[in-house]
Amino acid sequence: MKRDFLHITDFTTEEIWETLELSKWIKAKLKKGEDYKPFAGKTMAMIFAKPSARTRVSFETGFFRLGGHALFLGPNDIGIGKRESVSDIANVLSRFNDMIMARLFEHNHILELAENASVPVVNGLTDFNHPCQIMADILTVYEHRGNLDDMKITYVGDGNNIVHSWLALAMRIPFHLTIACPEGYAPDEGMLKVAKEAGLSTIEISHEPMEAVKDADVIYTDVWASMGQKEEAEERRRRFEGFQINDDLMAATGKHTYFMHCLPAERGVEVTDSVCDADYSIMFDEAENRMHAQNAIMVKVMKESM
Ligand code: CP
Ligand code: NVA
Repeated sequence: MKRDFLHITDFTTEEIWETLELSKWIKAKLKKGEDYKPFAGKTMAMIFAKPSARTRVSFETGFFRLGGHALFLGPNDIGIGKRESVSDIANVLSRFNDMIMARLFEHNHILELAENASVPVVNGLTDFNHPCQIMADILTVYEHRGNLDDMKITYVGDGNNIVHSWLALAMRIPFHLTIACPEGYAPDEGMLKVAKEAGLSTIEISHEPMEAVKDADVIYTDVWASMGQKEEAEERRRRFEGFQINDDLMAATGKHTYFMHCLPAERGVEVTDSVCDADYSIMFDEAENRMHAQNAIMVKVMKESM
């Protein structure tokens, strides 16, 4: 029996809260310089089919600080699904490593990897979702607000992998989620339907950013063209006109609102420098929390797989 973390919904509501508390506990321990080495003698293989700064550095640093050793396997190293089948890779890495983290294009590939691996698999982003990011995001909001009560999050931008994980979180924790996107750039219909049918959170799609941000506690954005879509970047810049997070949009919330971005940001495109660098921007706390949230996720799935 082993646990994977491929989707936010792989954890129950109780487990999400437990993971948030564990993240805070491990973070405090590491900040105090105390010894906490649950991964002593263990190794983790990290498969990257796409580029990364935060995911690579946070997983590698986090696994090391918890006593283990993480191996980076870049796009040209193993050629998952090309040089070798996903299931063969899963079987082989499971013979060497105690955990696998993967950032892949096709979501089906991470499902297949997890199905064939005998060790826990953690999703470091696919074309469909980015669950570790959203765990770090909600940890950041929790730390800044002190609670997650009566909270409105407005996501402005492309209905992409980040949004799919926000929708998944809305199935586990109740909040108001408004997604403001241009016509034709809404999140996956099936995911939206399932999240709405879960009936826990209020979920709205809007095409009017100025309206959508009213009363928002958090405004969140991401790049308009994700990895694998960069050739559409120019067309998207035209289609997303009016969806940039700037001082006017931040002011339109009518209250104190945090700004968040999973990063990397294309400054001057989906968000202005003035917003990124404002006092209300918590995007670097958010980036730091990738490591703390993931440490807790890894500790939990490892413990429950032994
Ligand atoms: N937010 C995030 O996943 O960043 P990287 O693509 O740099 O890993
Ligand atoms: N939506 C972005 C997220 C990057 C962390 C992408 O997939 O490129």
